[in-house]
Amino acid sequence: MRFYTSGGSSGSSAFGASGSAAGAARFFETAERDASKLVSELLDEFVERYGGSRDSIGVFAAPARINIIGEHIDYNGGKVFPAAIDKYLYLLIRKRADTKIAYDDVRFPGKFEFDVNDSFSYKQENDYANYLNGILSMMAKAGHRPSRGFEVLMFSTIPAGGGVSSSAALECGFAWAVSESFGFGFDRVEIAKMGQRSEHEFMNVQCGIMDQFIIAVGKKEQAIVLDCDTLEYRYVPLALGDYRIVVMNTNKKRRLAESKYNERRSECEKALSVLGPLAGVKTLCELSPETFAKHEKSIADETVRRRARHCVLENERVNRSVAALEGGDLRLLGKLLCESHISLRDDYEVTGAELDALYEESIKVDGCLGARMTGAGFGGCAIAIVKADAFDRFVAQVGAEYTKRTGLVAGFFACSAGDGVIRIR
Ligand code: GLA
Repeated sequence: MRFYTSGGSSGSSAFGASGSAAGAARFFETAERDASKLVSELLDEFVERYGGSRDSIGVFAAPARINIIGEHIDYNGGKVFPAAIDKYLYLLIRKRADTKIAYDDVRFPGKFEFDVNDSFSYKQENDYANYLNGILSMMAKAGHRPSRGFEVLMFSTIPAGGGVSSSAALECGFAWAVSESFGFGFDRVEIAKMGQRSEHEFMNVQCGIMDQFIIAVGKKEQAIVLDCDTLEYRYVPLALGDYRIVVMNTNKKRRLAESKYNERRSECEKALSVLGPLAGVKTLCELSPETFAKHEKSIADETVRRRARHCVLENERVNRSVAALEGGDLRLLGKLLCESHISLRDDYEVTGAELDALYEESIKVDGCLGARMTGAGFGGCAIAIVKADAFDRFVAQVGAEYTKRTGLVAGFFACSAGDGVIRIR
């Protein structure tokens, strides 16, 4: 969750010249025009960069995710309601005869090189390679080190640093690719846990399990309701009839987001240290709104009290949202999304001017049932439930007002629920 943003800051290049943002344009065009051709073009690119033939190249893909509702409560034992979406990171991998590792991405210049026997540690200059090395490091701790080197080529249609978890897609897609290629046999839930562990131990971000989990287990046309305390989950059809979920990217560069995230987490721990013994609970989300109301005054710090209030009420909203979607009550679902945004703005304080502008402008549009920020916040993305035939009008109106208010240009796309990590070949 270190908000995978750029890449290629200074990858060493003993493997020769490498990609660039301009060079990636044709892959974006193919992905738009004819996604089925994309893999074939990427295979050709792999051969061009690394030599050899297509034969032994494995191809894997990992999706982005949205969270419909249940924000900042996965690390408080709450329930979350995410879906994998049809934007993917593609990862091509081939074993080598020696022990060298090479990472390349058509979007970024420069290549990164390591050795399977390296003892990996986080290094800022390693940029996106840190996510991959973090996974190798967690695998090594679990007693699995690749027997040979390998080379990787990546491409992604996931907006980077945009709040739809491009970083968890990278972790889980890579973990799955390495596990499958070297026969380590990790299952999907183990892949998700490994991604989270790498965030904690390698990237120093104390994230919850939501992103990695949904990216590992997502299914076409389904969301999941996940109990983050027990990791029990079930699929819920993302049946929206004439409506679509529109993802809106603030395109705001996030600063200090990881430290703010860790700060929220410790504020929640403070709240729990007071309420836990009083109410006999292990997590904030075990508290009912009534029990919370009874004890909240015991939290002396008003800010910490508001953080806890968000968690308790957000968890309740997840239960109601799942019921609303299952009962086909999209209006109620939209209303709950709005309540969630307001709580994240006022009590949890993770929205900011850009996400608030997208939220406020969205709900003014006829045909929009509700909107909210999604993911960690502090920039990143928001989602809205929008009537399909109002999409163009929605984008034009929200886009124009957003630019007037912030000076930034927002990105928009309508999404569908997609599959979790997959092996394409
Ligand atoms: C990030 C984290 C998740 C979750 C969300 C907020 O995406 O990676 O674990 O905490 O923020 O809901």
